[in-house]
Amino acid sequence: MTVEKACENADWWRDAVVYQIYPRSFADSNGDGIGDLPGICSRVGYLRELGVDAVWLSPFYPSALADGGYDVDDYRDVDPKIGSLADFDQLVAMLHGAGIKVILDIVPNHSSNRHAWFREALASPKGSPARDRYIFRDGLGPDLDQPPSDWQATFGGSAWEPVGDGQFYFHLFAPEQPDWNWDNPEVRADFCKTLRFWADRGVDGFRVDVAFGLAKDFSADPLPSAAELAAIPAGPDHPYYDRDEVDQIYAEWREIFDSYDPPKAAVAEVWVEIPERRARYATSASLGQAFNFDLLRADFRAADFKQIVSENLKSAAKSGSSSTWVLSNHDVVRHASRYGLPLTDPAVPYTGGGQGPTWDRDRRWLLTGGKSPAEDRDLGLRRAKAATLFMLALPGSSYLYQGEELGLPEVAELAAADRQDPTFFRSPGFDTGRDGCRVPLPWSPTGSSLGFGDDGAHLPQPAWFAWFAASAQDGQPGSTLEFYRQAIAARKTLLGADDDTLEWLDSPPDTLHFRRGHWHCFTNFANTPAPIPTGEVVYSSAPPGQTVPAASTLWLVEPTPGEIR
Ligand code: GLC
Ligand code: CA
Repeated sequence: MTVEKACENADWWRDAVVYQIYPRSFADSNGDGIGDLPGICSRVGYLRELGVDAVWLSPFYPSALADGGYDVDDYRDVDPKIGSLADFDQLVAMLHGAGIKVILDIVPNHSSNRHAWFREALASPKGSPARDRYIFRDGLGPDLDQPPSDWQATFGGSAWEPVGDGQFYFHLFAPEQPDWNWDNPEVRADFCKTLRFWADRGVDGFRVDVAFGLAKDFSADPLPSAAELAAIPAGPDHPYYDRDEVDQIYAEWREIFDSYDPPKAAVAEVWVEIPERRARYATSASLGQAFNFDLLRADFRAADFKQIVSENLKSAAKSGSSSTWVLSNHDVVRHASRYGLPLTDPAVPYTGGGQGPTWDRDRRWLLTGGKSPAEDRDLGLRRAKAATLFMLALPGSSYLYQGEELGLPEVAELAAADRQDPTFFRSPGFDTGRDGCRVPLPWSPTGSSLGFGDDGAHLPQPAWFAWFAASAQDGQPGSTLEFYRQAIAARKTLLGADDDTLEWLDSPPDTLHFRRGHWHCFTNFANTPAPIPTGEVVYSSAPPGQTVPAASTLWLVEPTPGEIR
């Protein structure tokens, strides 16, 4: 490979369109109801036609699925329910053959409780080197049977699990997900080995799960109470969120990534409020790029979108990275449904972090099985397409979640007996969890699992899923699938080499207008039409007439100077 070529390749992630695959729910090759790697292989043509630059594979490692695969038994293998390492190699070869990069999900905050090292820790005495790889503490009280603190786990319940000998282990998520001790050199070395293992197998990048949670300081005695903890901002003083020591971990990883040509890319999952703190993860000395979930948590409102974009572009510039944009992923209500719900109160703005007004609204809506308030599917889809086109015009990389290209709404009506997400079991009556965005994809309008596989689906598909089937949208003008394909293709044509800057232009209330070089993007957030700005319309999320329809986005180009008379 020539030097020029390597340089060219190295920056592929900066403006990539990345498609997230949740493997268990994508395509099932052997009819056991669980999506698998051969299933993904069979759909590489679909991904190529969609035009995405990369796929991000959510975990496919051996797992008892206590948290949908984010409970990893073995970081260097494939779950036999999903395939084999040979299938993985084939998938990478096929994706690369189609010009698509591969990003793996790496889960370094916790393993599963079935990981060989955790079993060894349980079988070893208190104070042993095996226990030091995780976070064990003595219980409180005369019988050591009280947890070391009253901290709550993210999925509900205590963050401490007793092991029966007076000790407890810490788990930020489910009890089946014990947290690693990142002060332990063996843990650090083992992750480096894992990163090299997959990098050597040809993956192009990593998505780092809970990247802001690895470094911990639990030395305070007693530990702060849950109420005190809630008052400590994420950052150097927090016992586990966004401590400064994470930087050292990623500096070591970056050396590994940079030892490849081209260097491996990485993107941090950081639910951290302060953009400047988030920017640390995105520098070239660290992971290189960081998610922001601001658009994903925002409502469909011009002012909020504008502020989020401006702030994140500033933060990306500061870190020398490019920004990321996300509207949907496997953890939140799909944006086609979110935008079909009544707007949240603008007086309660989203201030960053994991939750906020839209999260609360969506959670309540899911608790009613999607009955109340009523979802306006038509409006939701129009806004979703408008937001997608807005996102695809922004400088930086866009992350799409499987099924959004079909316009899939959330499945809000899942029965309790069918649910799998630990959030549902650990916070009964408060949170139904994330299963509704993880229902297997409808590939065709007929068949027992709508073309997902030859038999059932591990989460039941509602009858109305058939309306969204990929095969029914394929080649159909006006379908959401064709809209995505054309939008991604048009974006490629419009992306210039020198238009990484974004300039806001004046526009009527409830609309946003920006340009990148000669490419303009105009979004009408209002419920009434807006006047069409000057320029040649090259693409739109809803057919424009004399005006820009309500809840729609237009792409325009300026006439080339020679044409101006
Ligand atoms: C991340 C993942 C989520 C998972 C959690 C624990 O937030 O996106 O799906 O449950 O980490 O690994
Ligand atoms: Ca299968």
